[in-house]
Amino acid sequence: MGEGFALPRAGTTDDPVRLALLVSGGGSGLAALLRYQQTPRCHATVLVVADSTDAGGLEHGRDAGVRTVDVPLPMDIDKSERRLAHERLLHAELVAADVELVVLSGYMRILTPWFVSRWEGRLVNIHPSLLPDFPGAHAHRDALAAGVSVTGCTVHLVDETIDSGPILAQRRVEVLPDDDEEALQERVKRVEHVLYPEVLDRLCSGQVSL
Ligand code: GAR
Repeated sequence: MGEGFALPRAGTTDDPVRLALLVSGGGSGLAALLRYQQTPRCHATVLVVADSTDAGGLEHGRDAGVRTVDVPLPMDIDKSERRLAHERLLHAELVAADVELVVLSGYMRILTPWFVSRWEGRLVNIHPSLLPDFPGAHAHRDALAAGVSVTGCTVHLVDETIDSGPILAQRRVEVLPDDDEEALQERVKRVEHVLYPEVLDRLCSGQVSL
């Protein structure tokens, strides 16, 4: 496992690994990462990218004084070409900002092999379940429907399959008897907000090997 993954270099507080945070929605996880970086770390966000103009994550980036850019789907391009065209625009932004590690934080688009192969080992995701259980966009709904008593969250390097790739860390969260989707999501997010920064510290300081 992990063959072909080129991990980021080991950063230092003087020369941190340059991150792009990619977001689709409200960005509570992104805000937690930016808060974490307010003290010197071996990683620093240089760019926040959203796939829509009104993603809440953009506001968090602006509040933190980080450059933000929205890269919506190019609707003027034929549907069959649109996804790849979108990723080319995204990739160009990342390269122009000299990004070293792409951090998906509630980024809800499925990435194509074209994009993944360019960033493999330097593309990391957090997913709100104990993968390989409950991949996809409805992890909490699926966990509740399955009646599990424990779920959690997973930080993993991204490969070409959905919510898949070498697992860097997982944390368990109990499912309570009266949990609905929203209550479970909020409790898992609180754990994500601690886990993701910790894992990025390890990944960006040479403490991860595959
Ligand atoms: C987070 O729980 C994250 O794990 C999940 O979206 C939420 C984003 O919340 N990601 C996925 O489901 C990816 N498959 P946020 O916008 O408040 O950080």
